Amino acid sequence: MDKIVSLCKRRGFVFPSSEIYGGLGSTYDYGHYGVLLKQNVKAEWWRAMLQERDDIVALDAAILMHPRTWEASGHLAGFTDPLIDCRTCKLRFRADHMEQSACGRKPSKHPGDIPDCDLTDPRDFNLMFQTTLGPVKDAGATVYLRPETAQGIFVNFKNYLQFSRKKPPFGIAQIGKSFRNEITPGNFVFRTREFEQMEMEYFVPPDEAPKWFEHWLEQRMNWYTELGLRPDHLRLRAHAPDELSHYSSATSDVEYLFPIGWSELEGVANRGNFDLTQHAEFSGQKLEYVDTASGERYVPHVIEPAAGADRAALAFLVDAYDEDEVGGEARTVLRLHPRLAPVKVAVLPLVKKDGQPEVAAELHRELRVRMSAEYDEGGAIGRRYRRQDEIGTPFGVTVDHQTLEDRTVTVRERDSLVQERVPIAELADELERRLRALWSSPKLAGV
Ligand code: GAP
Repeated sequence: MDKIVSLCKRRGFVFPSSEIYGGLGSTYDYGHYGVLLKQNVKAEWWRAMLQERDDIVALDAAILMHPRTWEASGHLAGFTDPLIDCRTCKLRFRADHMEQSACGRKPSKHPGDIPDCDLTDPRDFNLMFQTTLGPVKDAGATVYLRPETAQGIFVNFKNYLQFSRKKPPFGIAQIGKSFRNEITPGNFVFRTREFEQMEMEYFVPPDEAPKWFEHWLEQRMNWYTELGLRPDHLRLRAHAPDELSHYSSATSDVEYLFPIGWSELEGVANRGNFDLTQHAEFSGQKLEYVDTASGERYVPHVIEPAAGADRAALAFLVDAYDEDEVGGEARTVLRLHPRLAPVKVAVLPLVKKDGQPEVAAELHRELRVRMSAEYDEGGAIGRRYRRQDEIGTPFGVTVDHQTLEDRTVTVRERDSLVQERVPIAELADELERRLRALWSSPKLAGV
C-alpha cells in the first residue's frame, strides 16, 4: 500500500486533503490523473447499468434530504458503532475491533492489555454528520449529510413509476458522495469519511427476489473481471446471519485481496421491501406498484448492488501496480485496463528538432478529439515512456525521422513493449480498435 500511496502522490493521482495545514484525518483530494481514473471507473459503471441494459434509469439526488428520511431508514436510531474511549491515552476504539486496535501507549499491545489502560464502557456513536439548514441552529433545522445514496432512490420511487414507463423488474442507479463519521478510517482511500458510492436499487416482484439477487452477484463479479481485476484476487463472501444489516435478508460482499487482506469492495444485498414500506409509513404516501391491466398491486422487493468508486479505483490501482526491468533499468508500471487508463495515448517526438515536434503536436490535436491524449516533448525518450508507464498509458506513439518521410509512426505497447509502425492515416482507428479489444492483466501470466 505504501508504494501505491507514494506513486499516487508523485504522479498526481491522490493527495492528502488540505496538506499544507497538516491534512485532515482520512480525507483526500484527487489530482488530475486520479480524477481521470475515477471518472473512467464511474463511466464504466454507468455503461454497465444504463448503456448496456434497458431496464435501469439514472438519478442524481440531493445530498441533504428531509431528516424524516433517516428516521424511516433506521439510520438515526441504528447507524451506530459501539465505541470505547481510553481515559489514559485519549484514543477511541471500536468495541468490535479491539483485537485489531493498538494501545496508544504501547502500540504492540491491544487496548486494555496493560494496567495503565482506563477504558470506558462501550457507547453507541452515530456515524452521520449533522449540519444546520438555514441560519438558525435549532432542533428543527438539523439535517444530515447522507450516509448512503440509496435513500435518495427510495424516496423518488413514486416519481419514477410515474415518468419512466418502467415496471418491475427495473432499477434506478445513482453515483454520488456519501459521508460517514467513521471511527477507524484509514488504509488510504479504502475507508474515508467522504466517499463516492455507485448504487443501484433494482425493484422486483417479491417472488423473483432470490433469482435477481443471484443475477446481480454474477453481473457485478463479471464487471470487475472484465475491467481487468485478476479473478484469483476476487471472491464472493456471504454474510453470516449475525452480520446482516437490519434491512437485509441476504447480503454477499464482493471482496478483493487488498494489501491489507481480503476486504469488501462492494455489497450486494436483498433489502426485501423494508425501505419502501418504511418510507410509505413515515411519509403517508403509497409506495407500491399497481399493474393497470391485472389490478395486481404489491410493494416491490429490492436487490441492491452498492459499490464505492474510490474503493474500486483503489482496487484497480493495486491490481495494476507492477515493477519490472526494461533495458536493465527498473520500471514501475500501472497495468490498468486500457478503458480505465487516465490517458490512452501519449504522443512523443523522438527529438525536439527537425520538424518532429510540429508533426507530433498536430497528431496529438487530431487524436485528442477521439480519446484522452497527452503530448510530451521534454527530456530523453526513455524517461518520457517511463512517466507514461507510471500513469498507466497503454500506448505511446513516437514521431521520428521516418515519420517525415513516409507518414508512419511507432506505436509502443505499455505491457508487451512491442513497437509497431502504423500509418498516421490509420492511427486513430487502430488505437480505438485496441481500446475496445478484450483485455486481461498480463500479471496473470506472470509477466
Ligand atoms: N446502501 C448500502 C450501503 O451503503 P455499504 O456496504 O455500507 O452499503 C457500499 O457501502 C459500498 O460503499 C462499500 O462496499 C464500499 O465500497 C463503499 N464504502 C462504504 N463506506 C465507505 C468508506 N467509509 N470509505 C470508502 N468507501 C466506502
